[in-house]
Amino acid sequence: MIKVRNIASCLCAISFATSAVYAQTPAYLDDNQDIETRVADALSRLTLEEKVAMVHAQSKFSSAGAPRLGIPEVWCTDGPHGIRPEVLWDEWEQAGWTNDSCVAYPALTALAASWDPSLSLLYGQSIGEEARYRNKSVLLGPGVNICRTPLNGRSFEYMGEDPYLSGQMVVPYINGVQQQGVAVCLKHYALNNNEVNRHTTNVILSDRALYEIYLPAFKAGVVEGKAWSIMGSYNLYKDQHCCHNQYLLNDILKGEWAFDGVVVSDWGGVHDTDQAIHNGLDLEFGSWTNGLTNGTSNAYDNYFLAHPYLQMIKEGKVGTKELDEKVSRILRLIFRTAMNRNRPFGSMNSEAHQAAARKIGAESIVLLKNASSKKQNALLPIDFNKMKKILVVGENAIKMMTVGGGSSSLKVQHEVSPLDGLKAVIGNKASIKYVRGYVGDPTGEYNGVKSGQDLKDDRSAEELTSEAVNEAKKADMVIFIGGLNKSDHQDCEDADRESYNLSYGQDDLIEALAAANKNLVVVNISGNAIAMPWIDKVPTVVQDWYLGSEAGYSLADVLVGNVNPSGKLPYTNYASLNQCGAHALNTYPGTWREDHKVIDEEYKEDIFVGYRYTDKNNLKPLFPFGHGLSYTTFKYGKATAAKSWSNGKSLKVEIPVTNTGKVDGAEVVQLYIQDVKCSVARPIKELKAFKKIMLKAGETATVSFELSEESLKYYNADKKEWTLEPGTFNIMIGSSSSDIRATLSVDHE
Ligand code: GLC
Repeated sequence: MIKVRNIASCLCAISFATSAVYAQTPAYLDDNQDIETRVADALSRLTLEEKVAMVHAQSKFSSAGAPRLGIPEVWCTDGPHGIRPEVLWDEWEQAGWTNDSCVAYPALTALAASWDPSLSLLYGQSIGEEARYRNKSVLLGPGVNICRTPLNGRSFEYMGEDPYLSGQMVVPYINGVQQQGVAVCLKHYALNNNEVNRHTTNVILSDRALYEIYLPAFKAGVVEGKAWSIMGSYNLYKDQHCCHNQYLLNDILKGEWAFDGVVVSDWGGVHDTDQAIHNGLDLEFGSWTNGLTNGTSNAYDNYFLAHPYLQMIKEGKVGTKELDEKVSRILRLIFRTAMNRNRPFGSMNSEAHQAAARKIGAESIVLLKNASSKKQNALLPIDFNKMKKILVVGENAIKMMTVGGGSSSLKVQHEVSPLDGLKAVIGNKASIKYVRGYVGDPTGEYNGVKSGQDLKDDRSAEELTSEAVNEAKKADMVIFIGGLNKSDHQDCEDADRESYNLSYGQDDLIEALAAANKNLVVVNISGNAIAMPWIDKVPTVVQDWYLGSEAGYSLADVLVGNVNPSGKLPYTNYASLNQCGAHALNTYPGTWREDHKVIDEEYKEDIFVGYRYTDKNNLKPLFPFGHGLSYTTFKYGKATAAKSWSNGKSLKVEIPVTNTGKVDGAEVVQLYIQDVKCSVARPIKELKAFKKIMLKAGETATVSFELSEESLKYYNADKKEWTLEPGTFNIMIGSSSSDIRATLSVDHE
């Protein structure tokens, strides 16, 4: 008979051993350990096969974890404006879930147009909460490519033409998202400034243009924003695809900027195993998938960093140093996100998120023109004592805009159209009638997400115009709502615009409406500048954006005066394309090589992009960078500067600003610098500081800037360093890049 005592001693030995095993929680599972300790411990436990499995996708939007060790998969989601609907394992088409609708936030060009970093933080927190709630580890956004041409199909996803504005506006967005335990994926790094030929364009440019114009926003996102991942772009630089590019990824991003996050490829952006191993890529997505390139089913093992890589290691052709580096970065991302037990739980489709979208949208709208004359008062905000019969014209007043545009397309819980917003906000203060005016894109579907609208209208342009004109003659006021619409070549990924003018006969229609009724307001919805041949005939013009779920409310809030417009253009609205360097110098979209495999696009305008180009060539754009009117007016006083640079590093500059109107309003006070004499060509002005201030009617406030000496420097390509040449600098402070209200000169030795 086995003595009871033996069984008992065995049991307690087993329990001791078991508890001993569990008592020694492995470091990688121990939240109390610092991340680097956890990374090293987890790496030491992974097999070669597990490591290789982690550096490439396993499905359309996920990569493998290490199930044996309880290390979770990495799930990514588009996009910069909202959380994409779920897709099937290896499909682009939506999976058809019923609980993956989201809030669509304003496009990032709109966020930039608010010039309000506090709204960027709110934006990042809100969208980050939705990504977290949907259990995503990586949000594939924001995008900060510089708007080099207004034809670029994806300008609406980016933050305009100025590197400083983009950098200042992207950092708080990153902070807001990553506070939720979700990684951003800053994109598309770098030089992806047009969509046409995006997979084959080899960008050629000077180091100065690279460092002064195209990299600063990415550098701000990495160095100040601490982005946890970044996405390589499709195009080439120095003949290497940017998803595996020695210069951009190893030398600059991981070298000069000490980036410790994950470099993710764009989907289908990887072309070579050896370069993918050695040139800075960490995580390969989208290769060989049926959605992007011709590929075999279950092609994930064929990825450049899958079997081919494993084979090279096993054959001794390459070591595992690079593999361990890639896996360490991916583990670091996992410990910052999915294995961070302290991260919040997120939330989805909340009233708070809808309110955030509505607020950001209203603050982004730019009042370009609100002419008043002897014969006519300013038309905005709408005076309901005079305007009792309002006619709304245009397809964009009713068209759903959250569907379409490419990978940033969304499936929203609801979308308030401009017409619905106006009706809701105006109520019985006026009668509102709607006519189509023109037919643009009656469809509305992307990857299986359908807008559900039937916008089909077989009437001819003549019939539509005649109806609009006849109704306009009977109205007190006409609000035309048109522009672009995120369909192909109308602000869309992978399809640049083919004209700077509006399509669908809108220009002629606007002219006809202006002739029919002088009280015409034109609202342009777009993510890019447009030609306005009718501008002298239209008294009031509003630049509206793709504002997402609450678009109609945001616009109505501004038109009726619930919100005083305070947006400023984040790009130059050229009068014509020959005011834009990329077109004036005829370098867009580039020149094909003989083998027709690569197209070289030389950025000959160099650092002179946007207002830098129009300033240099003394060109007067339709509306300048930084322009935006208010329903009130602001007076700027005398600018003053401290006597000397405090500890040689920064200079205090102040200016009083007064709200001289009758309503409260916000003003964006902009500070530009000019290096009066320099050994290299420099722009006439460069934005180096801005502040958005809210002033009550009649209130004066002193706006104070701390100008760093860094902001006076230019990139010296010979010395490969930022250089300040002693001398005099002009400081120009104003309400736009062309509306300078105060200047002063300072010396810096
Ligand atoms: C696309 C886009 C990128 C997006 C990715 C996944 O081609 O360039 O911005 O995040 O693929 O949809």
